[in-house]
Amino acid sequence: MGIWKKRTTEEIKERVFGALRQNANFYSTNILGVPASHLDGKVFPEDAPQLKDAPFLTTLIHNPNHIGCHTLGDSEAFFAGTQELEREVIRICAEDILHGEPNQQDGYIASGGTEANIQAMWIYRNLFIREYQAAPEDILIIGSEDSHYSVVKGGNVLNVDVHLAKVDAVERSIDSEALDRDIAEWVAKGKKYAIVVANMMTTMLGSVDDPELYLKPLEKYGIDYRLHIDGAYGGFFYPFSHQEGSTLHFGNPKVTSVTLDAHKMAQAPYGTGIFLVRKGLMKYVNTDQASYVKGLDATLVGSRSGANAIAVWMILNTYGPHGWYEKIQVLLLRTDWICRQLDEIGVRYFRNPFSNIVTIYADDIASELAHRFGLVPDSHHEPNWFKIVVMDHVTVDKLEPFIQQLKEHRSAISQ
Ligand SMILES: Cc1ncc(COP(=O)(O)O)c(C=O)c1O
Repeated sequence: MGIWKKRTTEEIKERVFGALRQNANFYSTNILGVPASHLDGKVFPEDAPQLKDAPFLTTLIHNPNHIGCHTLGDSEAFFAGTQELEREVIRICAEDILHGEPNQQDGYIASGGTEANIQAMWIYRNLFIREYQAAPEDILIIGSEDSHYSVVKGGNVLNVDVHLAKVDAVERSIDSEALDRDIAEWVAKGKKYAIVVANMMTTMLGSVDDPELYLKPLEKYGIDYRLHIDGAYGGFFYPFSHQEGSTLHFGNPKVTSVTLDAHKMAQAPYGTGIFLVRKGLMKYVNTDQASYVKGLDATLVGSRSGANAIAVWMILNTYGPHGWYEKIQVLLLRTDWICRQLDEIGVRYFRNPFSNIVTIYADDIASELAHRFGLVPDSHHEPNWFKIVVMDHVTVDKLEPFIQQLKEHRSAISQ
């Protein structure tokens, strides 16, 4: 592991309060030209006693704007202190978690997984247009039937066709033969370039793609592609649960960008997506017209709170790499526990062995029971699946009554 370390609460406070001291301070200095300020002082007083020991809340109240991408060079000097901690988050995620070479990735804290996925597709669409004079009609976005809907949303926003590869109904892996046929058809319709979004744990099933299954037919038909990994859900989980043999990281030369969401598994506040991309690619979405922003702006979101970067920096540095690994192992053990119970009572489910999502066949559970325990369906109209996501608060103590009631329900209907 490189720059990611476990730090004490005191060390964390020192770094964050130190970073805030390096930022321009709306309370005490003359900053006359920025259309921003600290949070409203009548509602959120700066001298509230609980803030003294609360670096995240203090950052929230100081309200730094992290507009732009701070791994690229020039950035707004007003918030240089907290931007430095954002750069550390980007390096921890890209290098320590996803095996990137030191300082060879750019990235920023996006509003969420949706933005980070669309940011990737936007970069590659523009790359194909700028470098190869492609028209949007020449480009195809490829995900799977189990991909998050942000892939389809991205195609809509960017005016690029989307193909969702068929997956096996039980294994949830890409159906290679069907994809080969489908790609041949798209090629016949004139597609020359592809933006592949491979899943590192899907939203509903926690299933994981083998990216080679997407790439093989593209290579066969001579389609130029770029490969983005959607780890919005799995980015803070899968790299720790499947350490040997995964290719969903920057150590794989075919991977050019990755989405991770700190506001899911990492329990950061909403608004903490993370976009990571190999150096040399952000330029395709740099907006030259953002001339009032020092360093310009290559992000989709524009203004964003620096407090989100501080939250994820604090979380990662509180655990350190070993603490994080242990946290994930506990969630895996609980997931194993629930699967054993379901096996015992003969309830069918899907679970990737490296995942903490257990998705139960809707036929095997009464929807009333699923709703009582807050299981989420794949479709509210016609559910095929109900999922359990073993998050921090989903302890065995909370799972046990669910299993008990499921058992009772099943024995009642079998009589
Ligand atoms: C795999 C995956 N990708 C993308 C997203 C979108 O993330 P967000 O809701 O943060 O925009 C989600 C959200 O559940 C997801 O599970």
